[in-house]
Formats: sequence, C-alpha cells, structure tokens
Amino acid sequence: MSGSARPRVIVTRRLPAAVEEQLKGEFDAVLNTDDHPFTPAELGDALRNADALLPTVTDRLGADILSAQPLRAKILANFGVGFNHIDLAAAKARGLVVTNTPDVLTDETADDAVMLLLMVARRAGEGERLVRSGGWKGWGPTHMLGTKVTGKTLGLVGLGRIARAVARRAHHGFGMRVLFHDPYPPSPQVVADLGVEARPDVDTLVRESDFVSLHCPATPETRHLMDTRRLGLMKRSAFLINTARGDVVDEAALIAALRAGTLAGAGLDVFEREPAVSPELLTMENVVLLPHLGSATRETRIAMGERSLENLRAFFSGATPRDRVA
Ligand code: 8YV
Repeated sequence: MSGSARPRVIVTRRLPAAVEEQLKGEFDAVLNTDDHPFTPAELGDALRNADALLPTVTDRLGADILSAQPLRAKILANFGVGFNHIDLAAAKARGLVVTNTPDVLTDETADDAVMLLLMVARRAGEGERLVRSGGWKGWGPTHMLGTKVTGKTLGLVGLGRIARAVARRAHHGFGMRVLFHDPYPPSPQVVADLGVEARPDVDTLVRESDFVSLHCPATPETRHLMDTRRLGLMKRSAFLINTARGDVVDEAALIAALRAGTLAGAGLDVFEREPAVSPELLTMENVVLLPHLGSATRETRIAMGERSLENLRAFFSGATPRDRVA
C-alpha cells in the first residue's frame, strides 16, 4: 500500500522512537509529537478522522466518546494489556475491533509487584528519604527494622499471567508460601507446577496472607474489591500491593486502615484517580508510591508498540488480530 491508500492511524501518545518509525513506514500515522494527553474532543475527532486509533490508558474511551459520528475508525489497537478505560460494549456496538498487548509486559509488572513488596516490607522508600534528607545518624541494631519476607505467605488475587510470574519469583526467590484465589481457576497442572494453593474466596485468602497482591482486571465486579470490610480481614501485620488498577482498592478505606494501624503498609503503583494521589498517602511513611511503572522498561514499551503494530497489520490485511478482546 502507498500514499493515501494506507490506513490512517492516530497515535494518542508518544511511543518509543523505533515504534513511531515503524508506524510511519507502514501506515499514514499521525503522531502526538508533544505527548499531551488527548482531550475528549480530540478523541472524538480522531475517531471521525482515522481508520484506526492507537490509544492507551490515559485515553478514556467511554460510550459518550465512542458515539462519535460519522465514525471512520474501525479498530482501537490499545497500547497496554489493561483495557478498562475502553467501554467494550459500546465499542462492539459501533462495530469497533479492540486489541491489547498481553504477554510482553508480564515480567516487568511482576518485577514491579515484587519490588513494591520488598520496598514496603524493608522500609526502602523511608530509608531512602532519610539518607537523602541528611537525617541518617548511622547504623544501629534497632534502627529502621522492617519485616522479613522469606518464608512468609503471599496471597494473589487472580492467577493470570502476571500473578503467575509473581508466584514464581516469590516461591523460588523468597521461599514464600503462595496462595491464590481466582474465579476462573487455572488447570490443576498449572497450580501444581507453580506450587501454589487455591483458596475458595478472597476473604479466606486475605485473612491468611502476610502480603496480598492484586492481579485482577478492573471491572464493575472488582471495583473496590478491597473495601473497608476486606481490608479489615487482613492481618494487622500484613501489607497490600497493587500493580493492577486503582479502582480495585477503595483508596479512602485503605487510608483509614493505615491510619488506624489495622494494616502494616501498602505498595501502590496505581491509584483511583490517577495521576492524582490522595494527599494523606503522601504523608505516610509506611506506603511506597510509584507512578504506574508496571511496564516501564525500554524493552517492554518497544515490545508493546510492536504488538499494537502487529494487531493493526493483521486487521488491515483482513485477518483477525491475535490480541482481539472485542
Ligand atoms: C501500561 C498497564 O504501561 O498495560 C497495562 O495495562 O497497566 C501498564 O503497564 C499502561 O497502562 C498503558 O496501557
């Protein structure tokens, strides 16, 4: 294909240069050179003016925006595995195909969860702040004692790709006992190979765990899964880790639990109102806060871009993209 015959693809954010080059080579690609997050009006215009959108988590594509008329776009090739920012039912109703980028960010996000777990257990954020502030007075036998990780119990909410990668790291790296609950349980073989133990529900899981790590998608069913009641079931010595989506945790309830001391701490990569973070969290020493870094390595962001490209290529050649989710 050449010239105007090439499908027009509007890319909503800056992508790694290698991916942008590839997009320009294969498509009539419109790039976002200043990387500003698109406004709802810009998203609507993009749907009216391009054959495809390559959106990401910062683009809220709800039913209102997807009702754009006349609709030229035929595919939303999402950059990211999570697609809770896209109303799939509305997309389907408009005949839009939706794809995502699984697999290529599994290890990075698992690393991120383990990093948060270690950081919060060993007070790494707090320690770093102390050193940087010039307030460190020297080593001491009782100074800044954290919580041992090795041998403790980790509870995984969900046992999809990322949770399995966390389970491997926790079990083989730290000798942790790993429990999980998943409403769509994997085969007994997968469970046996991972050396994990199923629990019948989230309540049982969180009661027994020293660390709870969230690995479920954000859906209406999982919204505020970790609410006041469930946070209250966790051990007072336990930590909550969230690399999934902010909506899965009731942030106000988490703050209340941390303040009341019914929970030891939290490691958060995602927030309910990203990029806004509840101001109370900023004042707490026993929380580690990261700016949604789950997939943020050069290698993975390029792989995610290539995966989006692959999906676009397949779609415009008349095939079914392998990562089609709607
Ligand atoms: C992405 C993520 O970088 O892919 C996801 O679902 O949460 C992140 O790792 C970002 O959200 C882009 O979609």
